Amino acid sequence: MKGIVLSGGSGTRLYPITKSFTKQLLPIYDKPMIYYPLSVLLLSGIRDILIITTPDDIHLYQKLLGDGSQLGVSFSYLIQEKPRGIAQAFIVGEDFIGDDNVCLVLGDNIFHGSSLVDRLKEAASKKKGATIFGYPVNNPMEFGVVSFDQNGKALEITEKPACPKSNYAVPGLYFYDNRVVDIAKNISPSARGEYEITSVNNEYLRMGELDVITFGRGMAWLDTGTPKGMLKAAEYVETVQERQGYYIACLEEIAWRSGYISTDHLFELGSQLSKTDYGQYILSLINHNDRG
Ligand code: DAU
Repeated sequence: MKGIVLSGGSGTRLYPITKSFTKQLLPIYDKPMIYYPLSVLLLSGIRDILIITTPDDIHLYQKLLGDGSQLGVSFSYLIQEKPRGIAQAFIVGEDFIGDDNVCLVLGDNIFHGSSLVDRLKEAASKKKGATIFGYPVNNPMEFGVVSFDQNGKALEITEKPACPKSNYAVPGLYFYDNRVVDIAKNISPSARGEYEITSVNNEYLRMGELDVITFGRGMAWLDTGTPKGMLKAAEYVETVQERQGYYIACLEEIAWRSGYISTDHLFELGSQLSKTDYGQYILSLINHNDRG
């Protein structure tokens, strides 16, 4: 399975912060925002990852993340010229996807929770159809919203409905079989002129091939859409890391625990960052020798 992080867009809702800088590289506490969605792909067992961003920002992502070999994975990069919709990721990424299935994660979505890895592995192991998620929120009208019948079967997904039929938002994390490329090519733009991911999901629903996994109380899906959301997300990360001593979205740790890089290499990566708590954390993993 291939992975795509969609990390473009204009970020206008965070102006002036994002007037001259890409949203998804802003810090969430101690690491760039994109580390969090990247960690989701790595935790799903995906090693071949495409990052799609804007013409202005691509060099920043390349500078930060390189070709991925330092983590034992592969990062490649492509440009979305204009933010014409999330579903365009599959058109921009068509050659990269090739004949594979693909997971798309939005570059500003942060997930954390004990059941996450099991859910990810379950979705990634499915050969046919699509899997999306449902997460209860207080403000569903700001998202794609999925409604269910009495038996818990998904009925409909609506993008930013004025009168939501449920409080289950659809987070920016989607698993598809290879047909998604053709489906994305055939959807029409919405009233706001975008190629909506919700149209893709509704097509899978119409074909009877959409699974919706709901996340329960133990999962965090954090909002980064406003300055306050970003501050709260940073506080969440700081609180969990400080209390538990486990880092959220430490890519080097995930690569090491997944067996993609050796302990010697992890030591090198930690040493390069040894002036920071992040680097010290990486080095502490080796000292505790708890690869798990
Ligand atoms: O975060 C989950 C929500 O993301 C879903 O519930 C919605 O169904 C989905 O449409 C999307 O809604 P947003 O209003 O949050 O989408 P937004 O336009 O803010 O874009 C989300 C991210 O994707 C953002 O980091 C920018 C990036 N993006 C977006 C578009 C439309 C691109 O890179 N290119 C694009 O063309």
